[in-house]
Amino acid sequence: MYAVGERGAILERMRRQCDETDARRLLNPGPVAIVTTMWRAVTNAAPVAWTAPLSMAPPLVGIVLHPHRHTADMIRFSEEFAINIPGPALLKQTHFLGTQSGLNTNKLEAAGLELFNGQQVQAPLIEGCLAWIECGLQDVIPIGDHTLFVGRVVRVQALEEAYAQHWLLESRQYSPLTYIGGTHYAVIGDPREAVIEVDTQGGLVGETAEEREQREEEEARERELRQAEGDEGFEEMGSRG
Ligand SMILES: Cc1cc2nc3c(=O)[nH]c(=O)nc-3n(C[C@H](O)[C@H](O)[C@H](O)COP(=O)(O)O)c2cc1C
Repeated sequence: MYAVGERGAILERMRRQCDETDARRLLNPGPVAIVTTMWRAVTNAAPVAWTAPLSMAPPLVGIVLHPHRHTADMIRFSEEFAINIPGPALLKQTHFLGTQSGLNTNKLEAAGLELFNGQQVQAPLIEGCLAWIECGLQDVIPIGDHTLFVGRVVRVQALEEAYAQHWLLESRQYSPLTYIGGTHYAVIGDPREAVIEVDTQGGLVGETAEEREQREEEEARERELRQAEGDEGFEEMGSRG
């Protein structure tokens, strides 16, 4: 397979054949959620990578849980849950919550997490996260070996530094964590804006005139720099000789 590289160079790339189950990890990198629950004055929390927006009006979001998770029972009984979205400061705590069941342990306490009250649900919210989504339980749908819990969003809060109509991603500290598998996470970052221009045939212009100008300027600067370095190198050699 051939692909055009950044500077127009033709690169040969190999395609890796993956397992069917790799689909889940290729689709993973959305923000990891910590799902908190409360039932009969007992709280629990578990990280959940499989989340999805499902509907705008009514506002519905989905979390996909294995039926063995204690969180699944907590949601069925309490008919509500909260999604807490952590940043890199809570990396270890997030992973820790996924290493054991909350059936017989208070994981939130063991993780040393501070909590505050939700506005619409009994489930606690986690201090230090970047955003919080409170949900009532709308539907429970078995899917394959997992279960989709559909949450009706009843309240949303986010840190001003982190979110304003979209994730700002201006600093790592206020950018969400994403789960990429095993013990590996990443911080979502490097925001880009897609500025689209089409030609008279309706085809996408890969590089706008402004972008070309910018690239040519950068390339000219790089050339000048290399030339200047080269000249200095020659001068040095000359003075030694
Ligand atoms: C980062 C991360 C993401 C996870 N995502 C999911 C998920 O999407 N669905 C799921 O059922 N389990 C997921 N797990 C596993 C549960 O979080 C884990 O089994 C946890 O201990 C369940 O706790 P509970 O039994 O107290 O609910 C994930 C674990 C980690 C570390």
